[in-house]
Amino acid sequence: MTGGVGGIGLRLTEWLVRRGARDVVLTTRRAPDQKTEAALHSLRALGARVEIATADVADEPSMTALLDQLDRAGRPLAGVMHLAGVLDDMLLAQVRAESFEATLRPKISGSWVLHRLTRNRELDYFVLFSSIASGFGAPGQSCYAAANAFLDALAHWRRSGGLPALSVNFGPWSGDGMARDLSPAYLRRMGVASLSAAIGLEALAHAMAGDHAQVMVCPFDWGAMKQNIPWVRRRRYLEEVDTPEAAPAIVIAADSADMPDPEAIMEEIRGLTRDNIISLIDRAAESVLA
Ligand SMILES: NC(=O)c1ccc[n+]([C@@H]2O[C@H](COP(=O)([O-])OP(=O)(O)OC[C@H]3O[C@@H](n4cnc5c(N)ncnc54)[C@H](OP(=O)(O)O)[C@@H]3O)[C@@H](O)[C@H]2O)c1
Repeated sequence: MTGGVGGIGLRLTEWLVRRGARDVVLTTRRAPDQKTEAALHSLRALGARVEIATADVADEPSMTALLDQLDRAGRPLAGVMHLAGVLDDMLLAQVRAESFEATLRPKISGSWVLHRLTRNRELDYFVLFSSIASGFGAPGQSCYAAANAFLDALAHWRRSGGLPALSVNFGPWSGDGMARDLSPAYLRRMGVASLSAAIGLEALAHAMAGDHAQVMVCPFDWGAMKQNIPWVRRRRYLEEVDTPEAAPAIVIAADSADMPDPEAIMEEIRGLTRDNIISLIDRAAESVLA
């Protein structure tokens, strides 16, 4: 589990251990603090081997070394939960290259490293923790939305090639984690409410048992969302949930279309000049705005 000692990671680990997981490796870039050590101690008391590996998920040599080490110890990887993420909200005009890089790194480079290192392994699951930000956008979260959109696309593309993959676009979780500072009033205006860990994890189990590449999980207030967030009104798929009484928590599932090969796209982009890239982005933006 990458990002495994974050707010959701430790709750997810407990949930996995209580459901029978006996060997869990959590990656993080920093050494664990006292609070984390105490949490690990309780998890181990439940009878599981729970280890921390200090590694940046986007650093391919470190991640290769970690997987080799597990293989040599006879503990082959059964599945991947990719939670590593960085949130650094700011308006687009204020975004600097460094904050873009910091936010994209764990999600784009990180998930790509995980994909490359595991694509020839038999995995039971490959779960990417994404956000509703990539589905609906969110003020101040352009980098974060882009980073999560990559996870969604990767899940579709892996599935279309027969590899396991699930991207879950979660809404904000209550308790510890990235969304801890969002005020309930702000969320209400945005038309969303927080997910309790119990509901989030139950929805995750439901999504993992299903057969979709991408599932969105969030308690939505569609009426407030459409009223207060103009760009959401333009989402055509929301016409299907056009009632204020729509279920408080619903799951939208999208199916994989035929996806172009990302390696081919990267190859094409590498050959482009700066001007070509700008006009490509202009055309894409125009078609979205239209
Ligand atoms: N919390 C929410 O409400 C929410 C909602 C929707 C989606 N999500 C997604 O769920 C995931 C977990 O969220 P969270 O709330 O648990 O976040 P969190 O508490 O901030 O934890 C994220 C973890 O990722 C680790 N990390 C960041 N960059 C890394 C890298 N390059 N390599 C390895 N580890 C890295 C961080 O540890 P180090 O800094 O020590 O590396 C941190 O422990 C995220 O991907 C987030 O986008 C969360």
